Amino acid sequence: MGNMTREDIVQQLEQVRRDAEMALSQASNSEQISAWHSEYLGRKGQLTAILRNLGSLSPEERPQVGKVANDIKVALEAELQARQEAIASADLEAMRRAGSVDVTLPGRPQAPGKLHITTRTLRDIYTIFAEMGFQIYNSPEVETDEYNFQLLNMPPGHPARDMWDTFYTTTPGLVLRTHTSPGQAWAMREYAPEPIRVILPGKVYRYEAVDASHESMFYQVEGLAIGKHVTFSDLKGVLMNFANQMFGQGRHARFRKSYFPFTEPSVEMDIDCVICNGKGCPVCKNTGWLELLGAGMVHPRVLQYGGYDPAGFSGFAFGMGPDRMSLQKYGIDDIRYFFANDARMLERV
Ligand code: PHE
Repeated sequence: MGNMTREDIVQQLEQVRRDAEMALSQASNSEQISAWHSEYLGRKGQLTAILRNLGSLSPEERPQVGKVANDIKVALEAELQARQEAIASADLEAMRRAGSVDVTLPGRPQAPGKLHITTRTLRDIYTIFAEMGFQIYNSPEVETDEYNFQLLNMPPGHPARDMWDTFYTTTPGLVLRTHTSPGQAWAMREYAPEPIRVILPGKVYRYEAVDASHESMFYQVEGLAIGKHVTFSDLKGVLMNFANQMFGQGRHARFRKSYFPFTEPSVEMDIDCVICNGKGCPVCKNTGWLELLGAGMVHPRVLQYGGYDPAGFSGFAFGMGPDRMSLQKYGIDDIRYFFANDARMLERV
């Protein structure tokens, strides 16, 4: 640049200031801001370029022009900061509008987890029997023919085997247990000749035509008490207490004579229908009664197989179906919901 006067330079500075302010008002993001900064205020920016021409001025003029330049620089820096803050708050506002941080929205409710109804019913049963001194005993779901039948007084070919539609496996002599009763033999063989008071919960399997009240897999809870003087009255007392705790005080019950190869005598226990209180309704098929469980005094031969001398020991056993109880207690109309893996099932109750 040739010989520039003080006025020329001040004019240039004023021009740069106007250009810079115009450009700044149009910068709308951080990249544009930093480009703007190097264009006008940077080491290679316009302001610096003009100040390089101060050499053509007299020593008195230089500080005067220098002051003008510095004032412009300070003013532009202040405007830059204001612009940056405006952009930041506009960005925040845009984000809020876009919904990423709308702090004014109410929270979304979280559905709390729930235990499966089967689990709840089983735990209710465990609690009631625990108070009566019964411990939990677990035994296998895949059983031998010996445990599922023979030790329960059903030798090969025994017609009572037809009471259970059995799933056989490809291994001869291995079946899916059709009931929890084989657990009786496991418990007796572990504890004989000590007294026993256990419940045996778990899954059982039957080759059934599946419908609203029949599944091919369901739960049973077996009970077994053995001692020197265990009587049928003990059985009735334990079962009545259970029914009252489980379904409400004042429950009526009846015991019907029945048959199981592993108990003698054998009974089935009914309670008055929990839906209609015995008046008669579709759930109890107008009988006023609901079948609750099978039970009886442990057959002497079963005691013997288990290692107890029937001359000195007696016992009672019972077997109940908690899934049926859940259906009644929670008013569910189809047993297939329990294991259909539909979470809405859990939300219903
Ligand atoms: N195991 C029998 C059933 O599945 C129920 C039962 C258990 C009966 C114990 C008497 C004693 O039907």
